[in-house]
Amino acid sequence: MLSQEDTELLTRIGPGTAMGELMRQYWHPVAYPWELEPDGQPQRIRILGEDLLAWRDTNGTPAFTQARCPHRGASLYFGRNEDGGIRCAYHGWKFDPSGACVDMPNEREESNFKHKVKITAYRGADFGGLVWIYMGPHQSGPPGIPQFEWGLVPEEQRSHYRKVVYECNWMQALEGEMDSTHVYFLHSRLRREDTPKYGTFHTSLSAQFHLRDAEFGMTYAAERLEEDGNTYWRTTHFLFPAYGMFPGAENSIPLSIYVPIDDEHTLHMGIRWSPSQPVAGSRWPTPELSDEPGILIEGMGPMKPEQKGRYFAKWWPEASPETDFLMDLDVKKTKNATGIPSVRLQDSAVLWSMGPIMDRTLEHLCTTDSAIIKVRRKLLAAARQLREDGTPPPGVEHPELYNVRSCNVSLPPGANWEEELADWHYARTKEYPRSATGERSAPAHTRR
Ligand code: FES
Ligand SMILES: [Fe+2]
Repeated sequence: MLSQEDTELLTRIGPGTAMGELMRQYWHPVAYPWELEPDGQPQRIRILGEDLLAWRDTNGTPAFTQARCPHRGASLYFGRNEDGGIRCAYHGWKFDPSGACVDMPNEREESNFKHKVKITAYRGADFGGLVWIYMGPHQSGPPGIPQFEWGLVPEEQRSHYRKVVYECNWMQALEGEMDSTHVYFLHSRLRREDTPKYGTFHTSLSAQFHLRDAEFGMTYAAERLEEDGNTYWRTTHFLFPAYGMFPGAENSIPLSIYVPIDDEHTLHMGIRWSPSQPVAGSRWPTPELSDEPGILIEGMGPMKPEQKGRYFAKWWPEASPETDFLMDLDVKKTKNATGIPSVRLQDSAVLWSMGPIMDRTLEHLCTTDSAIIKVRRKLLAAARQLREDGTPPPGVEHPELYNVRSCNVSLPPGANWEEELADWHYARTKEYPRSATGERSAPAHTRR
């Protein structure tokens, strides 16, 4: 249980809030490079409660500027992106990526008024197949972008396989990532002998948690006994401020990103990568359902038609409360736990069902919720510390800390998971950890 006061502090990210200030210390990924063409149509986005336009100027520089024109308040969305700036459709005022007003055609030539007008503009950058925004106080000298391994490997070794708007608070979504025991319940198939394409399966629904502080946030290992007497370990990292790196189904590492759109919406993106080989599947989200009911798809399923007038207009999923998340009752009866057509949609169904901002005064956390509790404490402490004395939160000044990996592996009884997995976790080897059976791959029961 969390007090109402702490829940507010933890979840609210608008300008001026403590968590909002913490979030503004970091870079956040918000778009794919191909969504923003040089001189192309600006895109509506909302990040940390601020309505912005995302666009690229003629030179390809990513730009993030306030959505409304400072003249008479028209939306610059209807403006023209041309010759190094965005020009308002109403009277033609023009702004460059730094927010400077570079033309004011409805003023007399001798007027210097344009030099007095500036719009809010935030730094943008491309890295790792994503466009990032930095909304913090150091616009002229921002910190480094987190050096995730997927940003450093060749393009074919990573897959950007999910992008979607979640209709719930960012912390609720992140907490789902810290919750290892739901994996073999929510995402489970009904019968072990069925294809793993219907879902996960493990006889041990509970797990023992081992939590470790890390400079980037926290690592935890969930320990389960295998039927052959070995021990199955799933390791997950929480990286400040809103990344969950959980164990992959194949020999690739998945990362979930939760960028707060506002207090009640979250931009969720998913990436998988391999340190050593091309990853299978699509490079970009492929929003299709499987022809065969029960076979889980990788992403978020079909998107609604472009939601004109809304932020992130192309990324609102069909699977939503109005459609009961495309739940197939026959599949639910015969194949898997929910009948919902992807692992991530199963997650989003339960997360949305908690309400926009879950009332944590009503919850009853148990021992296997220890990772959730620890992540909350870390975020609250870092936000308070930043507010009290300006201490930069974890990771901001050390982008190299983000070069880590998670894994799932079966080890012999008594093995020390931290020592056995350290070289893999800290990217000192490209070889997947060797399991108790000698294999260098994730255990078969985790594969789909
Ligand atoms: S409202 Fe934009 S130029 Fe007048
Ligand atoms: Fe899940």
